Amino acid sequence: MRVLFVCLGNICRSPTAEGVFRRHLEEAGLHERIEVDSCGVGAWHLGKPPDVRAREAAVRRGIDISGLRARQLCDEDLHRFDYLLAMDHDNLAAITARLPPDSPAHAGLFLAFAGLGSRAVPDPYYGGDQGFEEVLDLIEAASSGLIEEIRGRLEVPP
Ligand code: 4NP
Repeated sequence: MRVLFVCLGNICRSPTAEGVFRRHLEEAGLHERIEVDSCGVGAWHLGKPPDVRAREAAVRRGIDISGLRARQLCDEDLHRFDYLLAMDHDNLAAITARLPPDSPAHAGLFLAFAGLGSRAVPDPYYGGDQGFEEVLDLIEAASSGLIEEIRGRLEVPP
């Protein structure tokens, strides 16, 4: 099974989600069964590492995302991934506009897995450090929910 996290620039929210969710998979012993990646809808930061504020916030929680490099959503992603998880409504609209109508993939907001309905992960790029902490809190909650969903689909007992 393959999971793709999508935000605007692929330097703040989605690489954070990739790093956090990878750790959740390792803790659940599912890391060899699930492939994880992230990308951005936009092209401004291609090839760049995550924003230094995102890297530092992740490190404070013991997660290293410094090796990730920004890339842009491509058509192959729409066929390859089972879950296309958007950080906000604009990202989701960009995905669904390109998703073939008969696609079996799940395209939706990541925070739905935190029981937060249609809430978005707020874009922290133009804000302060506190924004990056909030992003991490939301992503941690949604990662736990997504692990439960995947356990159910793989029929792995809790
Ligand atoms: P991200 O944050 O989508 O979470 O990676 C942003 C990064 C860069 C920009 C906007 C949001 N930007 O406008 O360059």
